[in-house]
Amino acid sequence: MLKYFYIESYGCQMNLYDNEIIITILLKNNFKYVDNLYKADLVFINTCSIRKKSENTIYNRILFLNSIKRKKKKFLLGLIGCMSKRIDYKYFFKKKLLDFIIGPDQYKKIPYFIKSLNDNRYSYNVILSNEENYNNIIPTKLYNKNKVSSFITISRGCDNMCTFCVVPFTRGREKSKSPKNIINECKLLYNLGYKEIILLGQNVDSYLWNKKSYLKKDIINNNIKKSINFSNLLEKISKKFPNMRIRFSTSNPHDMSLEVIKIIKKYNNICKYIHLPFQSGSNRILKLMKRKYNRIEYINLINNIKNIIPDCALSYDIITGFCTETIKDHIDTLNLMKYVKFDFGYMFYYSHIKGTYAYKNFKDTVPINIKKNRLNEIINLQRKHSFLKLKKYINTTQEVLIEGTSKKNKNYWYGKNSQNSIVVFPKKKEKIGDFVKIKIIDNTSATLIGKFKSFL
Ligand code: SAH
Ligand code: F3S
Repeated sequence: MLKYFYIESYGCQMNLYDNEIIITILLKNNFKYVDNLYKADLVFINTCSIRKKSENTIYNRILFLNSIKRKKKKFLLGLIGCMSKRIDYKYFFKKKLLDFIIGPDQYKKIPYFIKSLNDNRYSYNVILSNEENYNNIIPTKLYNKNKVSSFITISRGCDNMCTFCVVPFTRGREKSKSPKNIINECKLLYNLGYKEIILLGQNVDSYLWNKKSYLKKDIINNNIKKSINFSNLLEKISKKFPNMRIRFSTSNPHDMSLEVIKIIKKYNNICKYIHLPFQSGSNRILKLMKRKYNRIEYINLINNIKNIIPDCALSYDIITGFCTETIKDHIDTLNLMKYVKFDFGYMFYYSHIKGTYAYKNFKDTVPINIKKNRLNEIINLQRKHSFLKLKKYINTTQEVLIEGTSKKNKNYWYGKNSQNSIVVFPKKKEKIGDFVKIKIIDNTSATLIGKFKSFL
């Protein structure tokens, strides 16, 4: 009798959130969650396809898990998440490397799947849905050990079709969750003692909900009135939970409105930090990427943010070495970074992923060593900017939410200010989850170092 299940997860926070959904579904069906692979009868591997490296890591992991199955502990192994639609399932089933494969929109069916596995009826279901399938499921938080900050997925999928990106194919069309359900999840987090909510979506700014349709494109095409957009949602949550911090990710430069920026400014509990991926500073490359904004529009948006919220921190995602990128395009990117001076960044070199528009239509022209060199240049420039940005906090007082013990020194707390910068300071009588005022006395390129001033 199968009873104990374990989930291991790769990729982004949206997968971690999905794990909480799966845990809820399985607990309701009398399965038991274990946090150790060797105690499980049923193992899920929640996968990521964003870059080749992510998928290679998972292929190796599947082989490793199979060696455990053979030598140490028998269990059923199932692949879920973004790779489910992409994996050569016939090969993996034939070689008996996987027992089942379930796509990101089919998790409600897992219990039936598991029951029917013996007669091999339902070992594969990767159908993507046009509706938000998990609207009435309140996620189980036992997966999340840090009881300070937790995430809520507000929309799933993406309609944007950037040419380098696999997400629209792995997660399907964009569908938003009802505000009522989101507020219920905020309440759950509040009652459990959490202090920070992170709203998640591939593109939070294009959140749009109306009870007549889950699909954004239907709401827009049919001109459905009285819909709730992202700024409405943000305002609702910040008013209802004034003692909780609110963060969100990811914003898309094409969809971020002035309205959202003004709401961030207006409410103290909305963190002054915006993650705004630009991917490339070159207009030509942005066009090839189908990003729907150009360099000037991006700069205008940044200027608006800086004017309205002068203390707002900014970060970005960037890809170096996209198809046909030249040294001139790369210099455009470096110059954009020099103009904005971001607080931090998430930097990648381009991975030519099967199934994407770019894979089908463009050649992966930039040699890997050049992609990596350009990436290193960007990393080094960012390091300089991060250091200078953090230096500006010296002698200021920052409001910090304590998240835990510093990894480098167990006598120090670790937390974040509103701008998402990491702050460490010597422990006194504070505890995890406290909001404290910290005087900043020093910095590295990644951390602010301070001392306790008072409780908030
Ligand atoms: N929805 C987000 C991005 C989600 S994917 C947005 O609007 O930007 C997270 C990041 O992974 C992307 O921002 C991009 O920088 C990176 N990424 C996506 N596809 C990639 C690829 N094929 N190669 C390298 N990096 C990629
Ligand atoms: Fe991917 Fe672009 Fe959407 S990066 S997730 S297709 S906004």
